[in-house]
Amino acid sequence: MTTIRSLSLNENVHSLCELPVLSGTTGPDVINVEALYKQTGMFTYDPGFTSTASCSSTITYIDGEAGILLYRGYPIEQLAEKCTFLEVCYLLLNGELPTTSEMFKFESTITIHTMVHDQLTNFFKGFRRDAHPMAIMVGVVGALSAFYHDALDIKSKNDRDISAIRLIAKVPTIVAMCHKYSTGLPFMYPQNKLSYVENFMRMMLGTPCDDFAPNPVLVRALDRILILHADHEQNASTSTVRLAGSSGANPYACITAGIACLWGAAHGGANEAVLNMLKEIGDVSHIPKYIAKAKDKNDPFRLMGFGHRVYKNHDPRAKLMRTTCHEVLTELGLHDNNLFKLALELERIALEDNYFIEKKLYPNVDFYSGIVFHALGIPSNMFTAMFAMGRTVGWIAHWAEMIADPDQKIGRPRQLYTGATKRDVPKNHNTSS
Ligand code: CMC
Repeated sequence: MTTIRSLSLNENVHSLCELPVLSGTTGPDVINVEALYKQTGMFTYDPGFTSTASCSSTITYIDGEAGILLYRGYPIEQLAEKCTFLEVCYLLLNGELPTTSEMFKFESTITIHTMVHDQLTNFFKGFRRDAHPMAIMVGVVGALSAFYHDALDIKSKNDRDISAIRLIAKVPTIVAMCHKYSTGLPFMYPQNKLSYVENFMRMMLGTPCDDFAPNPVLVRALDRILILHADHEQNASTSTVRLAGSSGANPYACITAGIACLWGAAHGGANEAVLNMLKEIGDVSHIPKYIAKAKDKNDPFRLMGFGHRVYKNHDPRAKLMRTTCHEVLTELGLHDNNLFKLALELERIALEDNYFIEKKLYPNVDFYSGIVFHALGIPSNMFTAMFAMGRTVGWIAHWAEMIADPDQKIGRPRQLYTGATKRDVPKNHNTSS
């Protein structure tokens, strides 16, 4: 049983203790409560982290009310238009956009690390063919620390950099392998003459029997999708990576923790759920029934791909993803496809509905990404793995930032205990008689 009494911050906390207020370079100030428990014997309570900054960071900034997303200060719109995904990776990892020579070196280094240890292919064979690709991702990415333990000293910047490169380079190869394994097709080796995205598309969609000529419009679209997924400050999976890493766990184990968290339908699993939902709705005439279900408090159904914890105006990634979606559909001549027509109609109806307007529920990045992935020929059970591929750099950048911080401590939240108070095991307790 939880007892509630109220405490006015102004009147009461100040009489109990002095709490410093910290300012960042932009965004809301934070009250530093580190000394609160020592001074008052009380914890703060914020289970969904709705008012809690879990760390300080220099990587990504979001203003949810204004629909702003900045990577290292650069607006996502400009990065999506002017940069490649690998340039954005460099930016996230190093804080600055690369010069031409820095980019050449970075891209070459990534390219030579795209192959995975050949023995890793045996590892796949332990999985059922019908396993969900995210289940395989969790297992295989986790196993990387058993293959690349030559550079696992997290205190060494050189080792951290090598692990970052290996993860960014190898995750696309593993994602494509997960798909090939589940469809019974042979694994494709990477080809060093191809760009990062071309290479992935060939490994994912090509076969050894045919030449694969990537369509430049689709390559650019996928590159942009990866940019849009690359980082999103302290979201659930990134916070999971940080928490796992705070104990000193190796980077592959930490990124695996992030992948596991991403899998959930409220997070990265939403893109797959969007497509499943569209298939379930089936026809434009059924949309009102599903809108009514989404609004019904007694029905667990939610409109997947709508709403966001932080964005309460619009998701800037969704706006860019919508444009990309139209570019891809036009390129592939798919505008008349039923599923796509259904998605656009659902979007239109929801955006005009008072429930969604009042609760500030807008389409998020996952609403459109599922449609684009589907158009690209990527099966829906691979969608969240695609998200993981883009987010790997964000996870590793946050992990590296945390490890490099000299004041870093193990993350150890406290709790509001509501269980039984101290009691004795009954004297006559004996289950074996
Ligand atoms: N459909 C119908 N109602 C919704 C939806 C939705 N998609 N999202 C939120 N609501 C309602 C919710 O029922 C609640 O109503 P009330 O105030 O009457 O109780 C209100 O809006 C606030 O929702 P919440 O669950 O308290 O908000 P949250 O910030 O905890 O959750 C969310 C955010 C993204 C988990 C949620 O909006 C949701 O479940 N959306 C669908 C899943 C989805 O698309 N997830 C992808 C998020 S973007 C990519 C990523 O970051 O991974």
